Amino acid sequence: MDLSVNADRAGAGTVSAQAATVDVARERAQTVGVRHAHHLNSAGAALPTVAVVDEVVAHLRREENEGGYEAAAAVSGRIEQVYADAARAVGASAEEIALADSATSGLRVIVDALRVDRSTRLLVGRSTYVSHALHLLSLAKHTDAELIVVPNGADGAIDLERLERLLTGGPRDVVCLAHVPTSSGLVEPVRDIGALTRRSGAVYLLDATQSVGHLRVDVDEIGCDALVTTGRKFLRAPRGTGFAYIRGALLDGLAPVAPDVRGAVWTGAREWSLSPTARRFETWESSVAGRLGLGVALRQLLARGVDATAAYLCATATLLRQGLAAIDAVTVQDPPSCASGIVTFTVDGLEAEAVSQRLAARGVRTVAVPASHGQWDLGARGVPAVVRASVHVYNDDADADALLDAVAEIARGAGT
Ligand SMILES: Cc1ncc(COP(=O)(O)O)c(C=O)c1O
Repeated sequence: MDLSVNADRAGAGTVSAQAATVDVARERAQTVGVRHAHHLNSAGAALPTVAVVDEVVAHLRREENEGGYEAAAAVSGRIEQVYADAARAVGASAEEIALADSATSGLRVIVDALRVDRSTRLLVGRSTYVSHALHLLSLAKHTDAELIVVPNGADGAIDLERLERLLTGGPRDVVCLAHVPTSSGLVEPVRDIGALTRRSGAVYLLDATQSVGHLRVDVDEIGCDALVTTGRKFLRAPRGTGFAYIRGALLDGLAPVAPDVRGAVWTGAREWSLSPTARRFETWESSVAGRLGLGVALRQLLARGVDATAAYLCATATLLRQGLAAIDAVTVQDPPSCASGIVTFTVDGLEAEAVSQRLAARGVRTVAVPASHGQWDLGARGVPAVVRASVHVYNDDADADALLDAVAEIARGAGT
């Protein structure tokens, strides 16, 4: 499969011109992991570049030699730069960024700070990630807040008309969903949702874990009040990293439930003051090495260009969907609104986990996503699990062909 030639046929408009700006050979040359397998799991954890790993290792060596606190002090300026680069990646200001160790921990502290009570209405999308859904369900159960799962439209994305009708007006409505879910290649209409929440005054929390580093994400264009993402997926940063964006206007009235010495000063026996920035949501302890690696990954993304990255990933995934759909006994499970680099499918008569394992045995890395990771999506669609293949800028024709050939062989029942 020739990804460069076929980019035009991917149905993504001007893709070929933009896709040409991703230098796949260069990306592969700086990614050691591509030598070992066809890595189609960037939605799980993408392959980092050599520069990201070098940065992390160098800082761990520095800690070994100088001590952790001394090493952190020596790189404090570079850590400040991570805030600025994270802000640039999502169109925010550095004061609106809190570094976190995962998307889940980032969202948890923001949701807790909203002080959900029985007057709150949680309007959630079907794309909501399992850990966020469980947090919100648990809050609703213990506070009697109303939780409404907003239905999807025919395109598989949130039904905007229903959402509009459900918004009663005011900040006790909290809208929460994923830009791109864990369970399909769906892309939610995040800007349209933002237009609705702005009009009604609802608080809009966006889980951009699968979209930052993958698609264009600009908090002002989207109109969200807060956003979380993780490092290890499309950003290609180390595990245990992530960040949250909290819009200044929301931040002003938002205090963490559990202030930490990192984000607050204990000023008297019973008094404390909060950091004026989003850092009020941070904790003291963190992996400085990981954060430096996140900084390198962010700068590499910004240098490559988000639009070129998105165009390449979407065009490649479109070709994979077309190739998979042409294989007997294979069903592409992505909804019509799926302009992303994530592809999901099933093979008749075989569990997704078995397919993923057989692919791994053939050197193709995917994952099986069970309904327990997305009950409001896969569960509601009656799909017990899907195989998920997710691409990145280091994936080339050979990776695409390897997936399609292996799936065809597995679907034919050849070998195990
Ligand atoms: C859509 C989505 N949101 C959130 C998460 C959770 O990210 P983290 O493990 O960094 O908390 C995931 C992880 O797969 C995800 O796919």
